[in-house]
Amino acid sequence: MKRRILLSSAAAFGIALAGMASASDLPPLEQKDSYTVGFAQMESNNPWRIAETKSFHDTAESCGWNLIATDAAGSAAKQVADVDSMIAQGIDVLFLPPREEKPLLPAVMKARAAGIPTFLVDRSVDESVAKPGEHFVSFLGSDFIDQGERAADWLAANFKGEKGVIVELEGTTGSSPANDRKKGFDDRIAQDDRFEIVASQTGDFARDLGRQVMETLLQAHPDVNVVYAHNDEMAIGAIQALELAGRKPGEDILVVSIDGTRDALQAIIDGKMGVTVESSPFFGPLACEVMKRYAAGEEIEPWVQVKDRIFTADNAADHIDEAY
Ligand code: AHR
Repeated sequence: MKRRILLSSAAAFGIALAGMASASDLPPLEQKDSYTVGFAQMESNNPWRIAETKSFHDTAESCGWNLIATDAAGSAAKQVADVDSMIAQGIDVLFLPPREEKPLLPAVMKARAAGIPTFLVDRSVDESVAKPGEHFVSFLGSDFIDQGERAADWLAANFKGEKGVIVELEGTTGSSPANDRKKGFDDRIAQDDRFEIVASQTGDFARDLGRQVMETLLQAHPDVNVVYAHNDEMAIGAIQALELAGRKPGEDILVVSIDGTRDALQAIIDGKMGVTVESSPFFGPLACEVMKRYAAGEEIEPWVQVKDRIFTADNAADHIDEAY
């Protein structure tokens, strides 16, 4: 039996609900054959997001989900409104990849106030305000700091020159992967005197913007010889910009990235990209398993961590057929 607080009062509380709930009174979830499940996607402008949404659709039937999936088209405000609408439609469970850490806090708090168990998938919110085990059940996802560190470690081990001049293409400003991938990489690089990050600018995780930003930064820093992109789409955009400018990615400039998309694996096979640290979008089966454990009354760990592989010239060809 679900305890639901009236939506009008939830809206009145809004974000001020932080700290009111305790771990002992997370909303329960009945064990039953079918569930109305909300999946509020943030955008669908890249292969990673499309693969994640497909993974939820592919899992729906076998997990007994009547899936309501939305697309916020890159707007945090719309993603919050999409969650509002799902709550009004009476979803049993919410799976939410929050576009940015702070603007999505109201969505988490409103679902909590409505008594809907919420699982954050692939990205998290500001956990100093909304906490796993209290305001949402759990975060299902990768260790983004570790991904940034592994990208830096690969660079440190494979850079052949004397001085590494790095341009960093950041993900969506205020998102957990952009914050953490930057921290992991920058902290590691700061310990190695050979490297300097001369520019770090957002490309919003998008190929086109990655290309445009790289074009501009290349003019300001023609001596750049390393690009670190927070995702593969921006890395591919950067490669396009570099080639247009007559540079030879893989020869006179190392490209280091994160995700493991098909285009990135092909770029590695073609010798244009050095490494991509995996960040898997295939969350459907994991979401099903964790939801069922929760419905069975198991206490769910605050962070269900996804383990990531690393793709280089040594193994990219072995994995391209399974890539997205
Ligand atoms: O949250 C994960 C990131 O979001 C992926 O690395 C990126 O490609 C996606 O848009």
